[in-house]
Amino acid sequence: QRPLRIGLAGLGTVGCGVIRLLDANRALIEARAGRQLQITAVSARDRTRDRGVDLSAFAFESDMTALAERDDVDVVIEAAGGSDGPALELAGATLGAGKGLVTANKAMVAHHGLELAERAAQSGAALRFEAAVAGGIPVIKGLREGAAANSIDRIYGILNGTCNYILTRMESTGADFADALAEAQELGFAEADPSFDIEGVDAAHKLAILAAIGFGAKVDFNGVAISGITQVSAADISQAKALGFVIRLVGVADCDDPQNGTGRSALLQRVRPCLVPLDHPLANVSGPTNAVVAEGNFVGRLLFQGAGAGAGPTASAIVADLIDLARGDAGPPFSLPVAELEAMDRADPGGR
Ligand code: NDP
Ligand code: HSE
Repeated sequence: QRPLRIGLAGLGTVGCGVIRLLDANRALIEARAGRQLQITAVSARDRTRDRGVDLSAFAFESDMTALAERDDVDVVIEAAGGSDGPALELAGATLGAGKGLVTANKAMVAHHGLELAERAAQSGAALRFEAAVAGGIPVIKGLREGAAANSIDRIYGILNGTCNYILTRMESTGADFADALAEAQELGFAEADPSFDIEGVDAAHKLAILAAIGFGAKVDFNGVAISGITQVSAADISQAKALGFVIRLVGVADCDDPQNGTGRSALLQRVRPCLVPLDHPLANVSGPTNAVVAEGNFVGRLLFQGAGAGAGPTASAIVADLIDLARGDAGPPFSLPVAELEAMDRADPGGR
């Protein structure tokens, strides 16, 4: 088979991580893909910056949408970010051209996942976004494929590595909030605008995507009640500890049975700092680690845990998606064909 030719948009933490991973593990990746994976063209804003990776073999596009139009690109990796603007334009152009799209961009998938899935279905292109949720943890594949035979009624977990890094640094070393955030930025965990992390929006993007996949629902990001960690103080953390708890930013999505006479299920989604008892599995999740729990009616409780942010884990998820595309594994990006995803009502959160 001829090589799968890749256009890579974004040469930051994630994009350069992909280049390094392909270089380091090329033989095993290509054996598993059944063909060569070849980056042919890349895009970033700054053409000249030294990024510590060799870009000399790749064509450079300063307009990333041009990657979709190149004859030597079969699949585009979007690792630039932003829910709208150039990233969305590139995604639409790629799928519209019938080319595969692999993206790490949870903001874009949470806001536009349905229209992109429709575009992919129309053109017969593959759309994959494993890296968009929980970094290196194969939780999308786990829910969409591994747990496909189950009815899932609850998904919850720690979905933002930056917040978990900050909270656990404050907890274990008494670090100041601002210093811990600066470290998370330095380590490449934080979003370009870190308010997305600390205000809970990034976790909400991921929760909305997981809920859609787990419950067979249309993505409903606007239905997530969001509260971040900006108000959590050192005193809160030490008082929680004295009472036998730790504080974690937790996203929870519940799918209730139809109760409202409409025949439709109701979805409850919220992200907020929670008191987690010390003996709960989420209490031991520290640093940029993420953990996701899903409860299925036959499989029982599943726990997915691993590195939720950073270059290596995120690249690992992106290249796993590429391997699927190289092999021609192309089911629907959510758990059902997009036309069959249910438009769920929003449940009244009440005191829950
Ligand atoms: P960075 O800020 O490190 O990198 C973004 C890259 O995109 C940069 O190379 C930048 O170019 C390029 N870029 C941005 N806008 C444009 C544009 N208009 N045209 C061309 N290139 C552009 O971000 P990350 O690598 O951290 O994140 C990328 C994506 O991956 C985001 O969607 C993020 O949410 C997601 N993600 C990140 C994870 C992480 O741990 N960092 C984990 C999982 C997902 P230049 O360098 O020239 O400025
Ligand atoms: N900023 C995100 C986080 C990156 O900290 O979890 C991974 O999605």
